Amino acid sequence: MDDRIPIIMDCDPGHDDAIALLMALASEKINVLGVTTTAGNQTLAKTTANARKILSFVGSHVPLAKGNEKPMARELEIAPAVHGASGMDGPVFPPNDYPVSSEPAWDFSRRLILASPVPVTLVATGPQTNLGILLSKYPEVKKNIREIAFLGGGIDHGNWTAAAEFNILVDPEAVKIVLESGLPIRMVGLDVTEKALMKHADIEELRNDGRPVPVLVAQLLDFFLKFHEEIGFAGAPMHDPCVIAYLIDPIIFKMVPYYLQVETRGTITTGMILADKRLNNKKPSPNAEVAMEIDRDRFIALLKKLVKSY
Ligand code: BDR
Ligand code: CA
Repeated sequence: MDDRIPIIMDCDPGHDDAIALLMALASEKINVLGVTTTAGNQTLAKTTANARKILSFVGSHVPLAKGNEKPMARELEIAPAVHGASGMDGPVFPPNDYPVSSEPAWDFSRRLILASPVPVTLVATGPQTNLGILLSKYPEVKKNIREIAFLGGGIDHGNWTAAAEFNILVDPEAVKIVLESGLPIRMVGLDVTEKALMKHADIEELRNDGRPVPVLVAQLLDFFLKFHEEIGFAGAPMHDPCVIAYLIDPIIFKMVPYYLQVETRGTITTGMILADKRLNNKKPSPNAEVAMEIDRDRFIALLKKLVKSY
């Protein structure tokens, strides 16, 4: 019997998305049924091109589909300062002809979800546009979704604005659909990912390994680390890899149940995730479990082990 966790990974590679994808593909505990791309760190054309580069680099055969070019109700905001003009600057990849499905992400995901003999986990490491469209267009998929695990938000603070984390800010209307879906939600956000630092010594360890995938990850991290050091980080925060680590080894994180809402119409708080912490009985039951603490050493050890397993 296959007891791996079947996932569909929706991503916007993105340096940290690429590493998260490599981890998911390498893990014996995860079965990646499909990958879908979303516009976010860069345009959809660029995030899709980057997903193709990664999947081709490791000789994957996982099917790939692309999603929407814009958030559900807004113009797209991208992050070239963090990820460069290509969305994944740094390494040079060989040309590839990795196939892209003719189905849009939501049709592709619906088909995979309904065909799966066991409920599927949806993983989102970018803006949640494709999930929002999937859940609104095809609510019947909910019956075969085990949970939605997303990278985004921060209970304590934001990163793109004081209040909002990038993935949530880009498409808060989609996040609202996800949070109100009634599905089990796992949120992994800045409260833990800013502590999940790959430091210089960790990066050199991967480079010195010498094999193609660890070297590729070191090259991705060179670019990603430079930006983060310039703004005061003591290493490269491994945002997206944290949500994959949560699926593989949940003990790395302390999860706390909260009722979460997202601000869609704030003047200074759009994209903020609000956890209801009131100490009274007015608050609704929790709709999510949120990662609030991380065992950094155990997380980094898992990341390195998976990257070196290629
Ligand atoms: C998130 O934003 C993107 O830049 C990263 O890929 C990550 O998903 C962190 O705020
Ligand atoms: Ca991402």
